[in-house]
Amino acid sequence: MSRRKQIYEGKAKILYEGPEPGTLVQYFKDDTTAFNAEKLEILDGKGVLNNRISEYVMLRLGEIGIPTHFIRRLNMREQLIKKVEIIPLEVICRNIAAGTMAKRLGIEEGEKLPRSIVEFCLKRDDLGDPLIAEEHIHAFGWAHPSEVDEIVAMTLRINDYLQGMFAGIGIKLVDFKIEFGRLHSELEGVMGHQIILADEISPDSCRLWDRETNEKMDKDRFRRDLGGVTEAYAEVATRLGILQPSGGPTPFSVIQGDKE
Ligand code: C5P
Repeated sequence: MSRRKQIYEGKAKILYEGPEPGTLVQYFKDDTTAFNAEKLEILDGKGVLNNRISEYVMLRLGEIGIPTHFIRRLNMREQLIKKVEIIPLEVICRNIAAGTMAKRLGIEEGEKLPRSIVEFCLKRDDLGDPLIAEEHIHAFGWAHPSEVDEIVAMTLRINDYLQGMFAGIGIKLVDFKIEFGRLHSELEGVMGHQIILADEISPDSCRLWDRETNEKMDKDRFRRDLGGVTEAYAEVATRLGILQPSGGPTPFSVIQGDKE
């Protein structure tokens, strides 16, 4: 790792210069943070699970025509991705009231929303990622109105697909956060760009509840001190078919193995 140039270190991931121009290596840490990093713990094996789950989700989304930054998984903790200019927005899509929305609007957690709702937060840790309106995005030039339209359309399509994918394994997709980037390229001498899905999709960035019991299978287990965080992530991975259920290698042995 130290041989490569580090480009950026976030709360749960590190980005290194990639082997070819236009690529980066995304490394998934075990660091788990909440409340803008006020709460931090290192959860053994979490990065391995998120690398695998995010790979799986990005591949499935690629298959339905969502352009993503994912190129291929390199090893247990790293994946090769396309280098993009990150749009400074956290795009949140909600199906069931929970978290900050339930609190902000006084809705009981667990209430089904009348329809899926897309929200935007500004990606600014120093401000605690404040909720913003589309007007702010246009006025401050964080994204062009046509880009915002494309982001909303892609987000709703991702939501539709992921709701179905998780329903198939007995999980309700309550909400999730995604990020997009601009992939710059030259076509016939003219520079242009495409909006693509970036970052990760994992139980760190989604709320996932068991369909039967409503048991939380996501980072709320950490935020709310419920325990069993990596076990819940491993259960998501097992249901997705990424980890072997009992009989094959145990989730524990898989998540402990850092080398491939
Ligand atoms: O906390 P809140 O209810 O606004 O979160 C909505 C969704 O976005 C949750 O799935 C949460 O895990 C995700 N999120 C995230 N990163 C943030 C804020 C929220 O992944 N910085």
